[in-house]
Amino acid sequence: MPPHRSAAIRGAIDGHICLVLIMLFLISTKLAADQPLAAAGPIARSCHDCGGVQIPYPFGVSSSGCAMAPSFEVDCNDTGNGVSKPFVGNIEVVSLGNGQARVMNHVSSSCYNLTSRQMNPADVWYLNLTGTPYRLSDSANKFTVIGCRTLAYIFDDYNVGKYMSGCVSVCRRGDLSSAINGSCVGIGCCQTNISTGLSYYEVMFDYTLNTSGIYNHTPCSYAVLMESSSFTFSTTYLTSRAFNTSYGGQVPLVLDWAIRTTNNCVEAQKNITSYACKGDYSVCLNSTNGSGYICNCKKGYQGNPYRQDSNGCQDINECQDSNNYPCHGECHNKPGYFDCFCRAGSRGNATIPGGCRNDFLPLKAQLAIGIAACVLAGLFAFLGWEVIRHKRSIRKQALLRQTDEFFQQHGGQLLLEMMKAEGNIGFTLYKRVEIETATKNFNKAQIIGEGGQGTVYKAVLDGTVVAIKKCKEIDESRKMDFMQELVILCRVNHPNIVKLLGCCLQFEAPMLVYEFVENKTLQELLDLQRSKRFHVTLGTRLRIAAESADALGHLHSLPHPILHGDVKPANILLAEGLVAKVSDFGCSTIDEKTQSMLKGTPGYIDPEYLLEYQLTAKNDVYSFGVILLELVTGKRPLSKESKTLASMFQEAMMDGTFHELLDSEIIDEASMGVLHQIAVLAIQCLALPGMTRPVMEQVAKELRRLALSDEVQQCPQPPLVLEGLNFAVMGSMCTTSLLYTEGNSTGVYDLEKKTVMSTEFAR
Ligand SMILES: *[C@@H]1O[C@H](CO)[C@@H](O)[C@H](O)[C@H]1NC(C)=O
Ligand SMILES: *[C@@H]1O[C@H](CO)[C@@H](O)[C@H](O)[C@H]1NC(C)=O
Ligand SMILES: *[C@@H]1O[C@H](CO)[C@@H](O)[C@H](O)[C@H]1NC(C)=O
Ligand SMILES: *[C@@H]1O[C@H](CO)[C@@H](O)[C@H](O)[C@H]1NC(C)=O
Ligand SMILES: *[C@@H]1O[C@H](CO)[C@@H](O)[C@H](O)[C@H]1NC(C)=O
Ligand SMILES: *[C@@H]1O[C@H](CO)[C@@H](O)[C@H](O)[C@H]1NC(C)=O
Ligand SMILES: *[C@@H]1O[C@H](CO)[C@@H](O)[C@H](O)[C@H]1NC(C)=O
Ligand SMILES: *[C@@H]1O[C@H](CO)[C@@H](O)[C@H](O)[C@H]1NC(C)=O
Ligand SMILES: *[C@@H]1O[C@H](CO)[C@@H](O)[C@H](O)[C@H]1NC(C)=O
Ligand SMILES: *[C@@H]1O[C@H](CO)[C@@H](O)[C@H](O)[C@H]1NC(C)=O
Ligand SMILES: *[C@@H]1O[C@H](CO)[C@@H](O)[C@H](O)[C@H]1NC(C)=O
Repeated sequence: MPPHRSAAIRGAIDGHICLVLIMLFLISTKLAADQPLAAAGPIARSCHDCGGVQIPYPFGVSSSGCAMAPSFEVDCNDTGNGVSKPFVGNIEVVSLGNGQARVMNHVSSSCYNLTSRQMNPADVWYLNLTGTPYRLSDSANKFTVIGCRTLAYIFDDYNVGKYMSGCVSVCRRGDLSSAINGSCVGIGCCQTNISTGLSYYEVMFDYTLNTSGIYNHTPCSYAVLMESSSFTFSTTYLTSRAFNTSYGGQVPLVLDWAIRTTNNCVEAQKNITSYACKGDYSVCLNSTNGSGYICNCKKGYQGNPYRQDSNGCQDINECQDSNNYPCHGECHNKPGYFDCFCRAGSRGNATIPGGCRNDFLPLKAQLAIGIAACVLAGLFAFLGWEVIRHKRSIRKQALLRQTDEFFQQHGGQLLLEMMKAEGNIGFTLYKRVEIETATKNFNKAQIIGEGGQGTVYKAVLDGTVVAIKKCKEIDESRKMDFMQELVILCRVNHPNIVKLLGCCLQFEAPMLVYEFVENKTLQELLDLQRSKRFHVTLGTRLRIAAESADALGHLHSLPHPILHGDVKPANILLAEGLVAKVSDFGCSTIDEKTQSMLKGTPGYIDPEYLLEYQLTAKNDVYSFGVILLELVTGKRPLSKESKTLASMFQEAMMDGTFHELLDSEIIDEASMGVLHQIAVLAIQCLALPGMTRPVMEQVAKELRRLALSDEVQQCPQPPLVLEGLNFAVMGSMCTTSLLYTEGNSTGVYDLEKKTVMSTEFAR
């Protein structure tokens, strides 16, 4: 239509043509006004249209005054060649529907550099939708990673959320043939869900994986949040730049939008002037992703629910739309619905083709048929009820049988025999019903932790509070090991290891029952320290580290060594007096052959493990090294600087600038010599190849020595008070620090606990 208008100006030379063109122009504007979601009147084009993309109210082109609020304005910018495209911030908008918008997102890529023999750092890309009506849709998008040795993270604004997730994509030992077109399961391609209601998105690559062996086959890695339905993996994405070029470096992303000035419909309806659902036929829907609401037309109406005029919700004339509302009889449109009758002389269901039949039976015959039908229906109902009863009893038996099958499958018999042979080992085999009752049928409210290896519930069994862990399914080939580990674990009696009390094998996945440790995790303590709400002295940090190392060393040195596999601060519980207790072991089964789920947490996972897929004691040493760094630097394992803490610290050690990274709060508490020794120990734990790392017992010994050395001032550790919220200025002999204790009752902890940064890597 635009050509008509511009032609009208040129045609002014010839009066006759001009007249015709003006008529055409009038027709074209009339057509534009008739489009359903556009505003009324001739100004519709500049208001609610940009380069052919509809910008329906409440949206509007910016500075046209057509949007409901400034936050709903869309920039209509010239992108060259006279083509205009709509933008929100710096992202292009493809379409705007009710509640959803499709935009183009930037693909982050990183390619191997032959000169530096490293991956080139990816250009920094983030999307900040804070303060806008938009949120990243978690149902339509997936974080998608492509590459053969690629570990990429997606995270929220650190100051706002604590969300972080990651995805790893590996072609086993560089073998490209294992990647399959259309299959994105961790081989060459990986996808993961994001959490609900995110308004910020940033991508980071982990450069610790050495790609120098594979760059000639797969030079580039990609990571992007994108609409999952428009992505199909192709193996050519690995070997060429096809992924980037086929989308032009930009991929579709779905955003959920809502009117977010009030929390929900009830609040919005209180102020009728600002309430956006206009007209009698518009209804309000609470947003399911963040606060706010959207409007919809009532059933049987269509139009723009945010408008009151002729473009607002109007009755659908169903009788004129036989495709969507079929009627094979007489159709009568009614407000909000329609009637569809069979024509006179026939009866039946006129909405189905051939549904109307002529009346041919006399009344008496109809009556007789009616009675017969009733009798038959009664008979069938009775039979049906019997069948259901029978089925129920069968199902009950099946459940019992299945319970028994699970028991056998998880090696229950094996365990029973082992227990018999070992004598009384203080280990309980719990029944299915006991576990179900204790966890209130796995009620979400009972969840106290979620990690890569399973979900942990708080429960009461036989009057004692316990933690019940639901493992992810274990695989057949590891059954024997699993049982052996259980028998060993339940005899482990170490002050720094959470005690295993028993298990239940009558579920599809084994349940492990542990002693319950009240109090916090090291993760929470570190977060308190980072936000400067609590001071943890160097002495305490070293003691916690030594105790954890001791516990891991003990597990590693058992006759049948037990590997933890997910060492991270969230798995180090802190009991009364900040005594460390290592938890969350026992489910660490990694299936080598079938390449199933890989467990671990971004930032703590050993790069060597990602390449080899074989859990060794040295993997635990690596993860522990990261914890050591966190303890002395106070920094997170992954930060915005696009580098892991481990690689940042390693570089700083080489440059001799490591002291710049140390937590300023502990610098006065020990001589630089001691701090250097801790740093060296951490670097040893992170060494590559893993064989050169010290064993856990050595690490523990060294830490114990350092913790007790005279050079570390033994400052009294202020107690972590759990009751009430109060400020107290603590004067200690070492430092004077502002102590801010936090009450259990504030709910802050619950929030933090639920967002424990843990991910599974699909592989
Ligand atoms: C579009 O134009 C507006 C106003 O001139 C400007 O602020 C904005 O940055 C532009 N956006 C893009 C993506 O060019
Ligand atoms: C490769 O690395 C070198 C040195 O770090 C740098 O100067 C060069 O720009 C990089 N090449 C590309 C294509 O980015
Ligand atoms: C995102 O935008 C909000 C609001 O404009 C701002 O407060 C916040 O600092 C921004 N975050 C980042 C990381 O830029
Ligand atoms: C990911 O999200 C989709 C859509 O919400 C859901 O159907 C699917 O089960 C989720 N997958 C996982 C592994 O959580
Ligand atoms: C995948 O599809 C691409 C073309 O779309 C083709 O070139 C490639 O050979 C296919 N790969 C496999 C493993 O089938
Ligand atoms: C990567 O591995 C190659 C050998 O495959 C080695 O020469 C190189 O030093 C390694 N690079 C890094 C950064 O470790
Ligand atoms: C991907 O495409 C964009 C836009 O065309 C380009 O700027 C970028 O360099 C490309 N990246 C790679 C790795 O090819
Ligand atoms: C209702 O909303 C209008 C427009 O946003 C505002 O001017 C007015 O103060 C609001 N009224 C109340 C009672 O909040
Ligand atoms: C919207 O949410 C509010 C508060 O949670 C609730 O009271 C109301 O019933 C909800 N309304 C709709 C339409 O779902
Ligand atoms: C977000 O909320 C809108 C409005 O309630 C809804 O249409 C959309 O499906 C929601 N998206 C998700 C992922 O729940
Ligand atoms: C007629 O058939 C349609 C489609 O099968 C069904 O939805 C409707 O309920 C039927 N109407 C009556 C009155 O049985």
